[in-house]
Amino acid sequence: MAMIKGSRGHWSGKMGFILAAAGSAIGLGNIWKFPYMTGVSGGGAFVLIYLVSILIIGMPIMMAEIMIGRHTQKDPIGAFKSLKSGPYWLIGAMGILTTIIILSFYSVVAGWSIHFLYEAIFGFSGSDASIQNIFSNLYASGLKSSLWHTVFMLMVVGIVLGGVKNGIEKWNKILMPSLFIILIILMIYSLTLDGAPKALSFLFKPDFSKITPQIVLDALGQAFFTLSLGVCMMVTYGSYLNKDSNLPTATLTITALDTMIALIAGIVIFPIVFTFNVEPTQGPGLIFCTLPVLFAKMPGGYIIAIAFFTLLLFAALTSGISLLEVSVSYLIDEKKFSRKKATLSAGIAVYILGFLSAWPEIKIGKTTFFDIFDKLATNITMPLGGLLITLFAGWFISKQIKQDNLPKVFSSLGLDIWNFLIKYITPAFVFIIFIAKLYELIF
Ligand code: TRP
Repeated sequence: MAMIKGSRGHWSGKMGFILAAAGSAIGLGNIWKFPYMTGVSGGGAFVLIYLVSILIIGMPIMMAEIMIGRHTQKDPIGAFKSLKSGPYWLIGAMGILTTIIILSFYSVVAGWSIHFLYEAIFGFSGSDASIQNIFSNLYASGLKSSLWHTVFMLMVVGIVLGGVKNGIEKWNKILMPSLFIILIILMIYSLTLDGAPKALSFLFKPDFSKITPQIVLDALGQAFFTLSLGVCMMVTYGSYLNKDSNLPTATLTITALDTMIALIAGIVIFPIVFTFNVEPTQGPGLIFCTLPVLFAKMPGGYIIAIAFFTLLLFAALTSGISLLEVSVSYLIDEKKFSRKKATLSAGIAVYILGFLSAWPEIKIGKTTFFDIFDKLATNITMPLGGLLITLFAGWFISKQIKQDNLPKVFSSLGLDIWNFLIKYITPAFVFIIFIAKLYELIF
């Protein structure tokens, strides 16, 4: 173990791991996607199903991923190879490829948030239409999107070059607390707006008549995406974790932080939406088209806008570094690359792939690469990866290994419940999402 520790890096302690894993989970998924999906899906009912999905699907898979990583102390491919011979390492390989694809388009969206931060610093002004056009112009310009994608990838590569403790952990320790502080300030501000009571009942009073199969599927998918599951990300971060850490507590803390941040992001955004009578159902543009118009009108909007887009950038950055670290850990462990060579190779590959998503003109048929990559990852390889990981952990990891990795206080009842979930319940639900998403994609 000592040899492994020396070459591949470790967190300095439990707190470092928890912040980094929460940093990975908390991202554009919480601040951009969760509010707009809640808006589109009609509020409280979606939120409730999302919370249930986190409990019965998200947490069991997350604990399985962290356990696989921590037990083997290896990158995703090495981890599966050392647990069982056979083709199981392909689960890790698919995870690594998926993180490369996700990061390539995630970086483009993250780049947009840097552009909006830049616009916010100069102040959103002019007619409502001209402010709304900022996003459509940006989206249409491959050159501008590529420029900001470059800036974002440089930041990600710069941090990952520093290594586990002095890069990833150090930056998470700076960015995550800043993110919490900005979010709390924004929440206090939003709660003073006239639309706050309406927003709170929209978010937290479920209207059960709104539940449709589509909403259930979307909520399950969102739970998956927001917790960074199914691509061995948690295997990778778990592999830098010491044996003395408490897995159930870590899983619970990471999940609770991620969920809390998503809910608070909703509490920040919906009072603004309801105060200014904007339709909450507009979809992906909610943050980039609607909020800037409102920031231009609100008292204190200048500062709030800067704070908001800084928050978005920080959230994206801590997820971006985790996405790159998955392939970097593979290159270091299996290909014996130095960290520098591994980070630069993976970073350049992702960077080049990102241009396909940055230029909307590049298409296959009528579909942009942005959509192809997004759909391929979120609808196919992430749920498939999650399904295979939970089945693998449920059926192929011995009870002895599980017991060794769990603290004594996590009673045998806890172990039995978790085991039952990952053997039957979680895979059954993930299987349903997977088939339904596949159906939606094909027909
Ligand atoms: N969870 C991140 C977010 O909410 C995004 C994400 C999805 C991710 N899948 C991932 C991050 C895999 C790291 C690894 O924005």
